[in-house]
Amino acid sequence: MTSVKPKEYVSVEEVFARLDQLIESVPVDKNSFYDSFRARDLSKDELQFFADQYFYYIRTFPQILAGLSHRVDSEAVRVELAKTIVSELGDGHPGKKHFELFQKVMRAVGIEVSDYRKVKHIPESEALVQGLRQIFLVDPPIVAIGGHYTIEKVGLGMIHNLYEAFRRYPSITVEDMEYFYLHLFIEQDHVAWISEAVKQHVDDPESRAQLEEGALRVAKLLADFWEGLYQNIFVKSVPLPQPQLLSN
Ligand SMILES: [Fe+2]
Repeated sequence: MTSVKPKEYVSVEEVFARLDQLIESVPVDKNSFYDSFRARDLSKDELQFFADQYFYYIRTFPQILAGLSHRVDSEAVRVELAKTIVSELGDGHPGKKHFELFQKVMRAVGIEVSDYRKVKHIPESEALVQGLRQIFLVDPPIVAIGGHYTIEKVGLGMIHNLYEAFRRYPSITVEDMEYFYLHLFIEQDHVAWISEAVKQHVDDPESRAQLEEGALRVAKLLADFWEGLYQNIFVKSVPLPQPQLLSN
């Protein structure tokens, strides 16, 4: 008698292919913002606007991820998350937290990133950060693992596109670009780590559905975020008042 695969059997490769397909179904890895940002120099106001919105995402992410690491059941997954958190925070080296390296990039083009707790964020930035908080800190942790997979999967493309955009500015030196070089160096590790976490959950259909839900929700949040930046910087003709500080 030949053994028959159970009907619901799905290989690890199929799970990843499905996640990748969902991510590619929205304009996150390729989007109008990347294309336009690479195509022309931005004014100081536009750079300030970009920096303040983007910073909100990268500044809050390590803390959100730390909250998720507390919630997962699997110690193996917790290890993978912990590695990424420590990496995001510069392995404990002063001045090497990733958000600090981004501040260094911005200083090289004459921009001081605003205090993210005081700046007014566009609805798409707010939706991204609040959406990540909801997914990583409230919803089932396996949904968040799927969401984190998206973040790492599109991370390399994001870094590459932003790098090409900043390379245009003559005041930037190789040293100022550490934020980008570092990410080019480590991003595949992050993808490998989160892929290990995903693999812990591929065997049951409910978990696979949660992985897919998380991957797609985060892809949509990110796509909306880039579209929001694109609209505000490259489409709307009204000048950007910068920085838009809250009145408290
Ligand atoms: Fe990072």
